[in-house]
Amino acid sequence: MNSQIGIIYASMSGRNERISEYLAQQLTKLGQDVDRHEISQFDTEKLLTYRSFIIVSYTYHDGQIPDEALDFFDDLQTVDLTGKPYALTGSSSIKHEYFGRALDYLDQQLVHLGAFRASAILKIDQDANRADLARLDALCQQVIDFNQLQAQHLV
Ligand SMILES: Cc1cc2nc3c(=O)[nH]c(=O)nc-3n(C[C@H](O)[C@H](O)[C@H](O)COP(=O)(O)O)c2cc1C
Repeated sequence: MNSQIGIIYASMSGRNERISEYLAQQLTKLGQDVDRHEISQFDTEKLLTYRSFIIVSYTYHDGQIPDEALDFFDDLQTVDLTGKPYALTGSSSIKHEYFGRALDYLDQQLVHLGAFRASAILKIDQDANRADLARLDALCQQVIDFNQLQAQHLV
């Protein structure tokens, strides 16, 4: 199996793109091979080639998945993600009623499809602060740890 970790991001004003860059940098520092793509340019079938993947997304109008992520969301159903580890994070805003709900929708879909959540959903309020960066570091480590456990057939 490929050892790459995929990072797929949706970003309108740049925060989530920066988070995706931060994750790529941290994972690379930890010796991982990373492949990062913007969500509307991403072919969902490529998920199958990854060891695991991380989705980074904002939430739009009334807690919705961003428009440019809708094709990706629908296409998830066309690939066999059984047992595939994933993590979800992203910046949205607590000023809105449905804080970060796009991540919840993605999580529900991925659980339904049989993928394995390697780390708790990490919602970030607007710009990532130092505590958020520490949580992103922990998320990277959890993804790596989960991959190792899976390689040893322990999960
Ligand atoms: C029109 C509009 C609607 C939004 N709706 C929501 C929402 O329903 N829930 C939420 O958590 N954040 C909402 N946000 C906040 C964005 O998700 C937040 O600003 C995010 O950091 C943007 O990420 P980006 O810089 O990667 O585009 C909304 C922002 C805008 C401009």
